[in-house]
Amino acid sequence: MAIRNIREYGDEVLTKTCKEVKEMTPRIRELIEDMLETMYDANGVGLAAPQVGILKRVVVIDVSEEGTEPYILINPRIVESSGEQTGQEGCLSLPGKSGQVTRPNYVKVVALDVNMKPIEVEGQELLARALCHELDHLDGHMYVEKVEGELYNTAPPAPDED
Ligand code: NI
Repeated sequence: MAIRNIREYGDEVLTKTCKEVKEMTPRIRELIEDMLETMYDANGVGLAAPQVGILKRVVVIDVSEEGTEPYILINPRIVESSGEQTGQEGCLSLPGKSGQVTRPNYVKVVALDVNMKPIEVEGQELLARALCHELDHLDGHMYVEKVEGELYNTAPPAPDED
C-alpha cells in the first residue's frame, strides 16, 4: 500500500468524467487500498479516484468514528434522494477551505463492491453528503460549484512536517 499524491483544485484531472470499472484487476485492488490509506492519512471522510489522478469510477468513504468498515463503491449511482440539508463542506483537493452547500438529506446509492457484486448503500445526513460529494467528483464536479456565499478559510496553512 502507498499514500498517493492528492490532486488539488485547478488540476484538470478533477474536471474530467471518469470511466466505469469493467472488471476487478490487481491494479484496481491496489488503487482501492491506496485510496483508503491516502484518505485516512489526510483525515478525510471520503476520496474519489480522480483525486489521486485516476479517471475511474471508484470512491471510498468512511464517516464513522471508529471500528466500522469503510464503504468501497465501484461505479456508484444515486437512485433515490430526498430531503435537504445545508451545512459546511470541505474537500481534500482544496485544503484549508470550506463552504456552505445544500445537499439531499437522504440518498440511496447502488454500486459494485470489491468483488464486483451489486450493493446498495442508504445514507442520511453526513453519509448522504459524503456520497453526493464523492460521486460528483466522478463527473468532474467539485463542491465549490455549489457553495452558497463564500469559501471560508478553516485553518492557517499547516507547517511542513517530516
Ligand atoms: Ni472532495
